[in-house]
Amino acid sequence: MLSSTMQNALNVQINKEQYSSQLYLAMSAHLSSRNFMGFAHWLRIQAEEETAHAMKLLDFVLERCGTLNLKPIAAPASEFNGVIQLFELALTHEQDNTASIHSLFETARAERDFPSESRCGRNPSSPPSSNIYGPWATRAGPSGTWITA
Ligand SMILES: [Fe+2]
Repeated sequence: MLSSTMQNALNVQINKEQYSSQLYLAMSAHLSSRNFMGFAHWLRIQAEEETAHAMKLLDFVLERCGTLNLKPIAAPASEFNGVIQLFELALTHEQDNTASIHSLFETARAERDFPSESRCGRNPSSPPSSNIYGPWATRAGPSGTWITA
């Protein structure tokens, strides 16, 4: 059973993952309208991946007999000040989201919620052959590390 603190933290992270998806969709649409089709395609894939992260967290809450508390998803910007600024924003957003995942890990540890902690943890040298790499570890990054946010 999830503690209320852990349950709330997971629900907040679900919302953040959904917002990430919305943001990347907005960025993809912006770039598509300016004929940067490769960038647009890449960001659309990122949006789909963020939705998958939200679904994995959602399933984890339900598997732990927790309560799902979906909240409104904030509207992302629809206009961006050039491609460089857009990707700088995407990078900053990813860094913020990674910090949120780290915070989730810390919450699980503080709550002595070992199933959540193990789901939040990762081993960068091994593929995610089991759930210990977290519900959001879905693909290898360019250096062979696992993407967690
Ligand atoms: Fe994510």
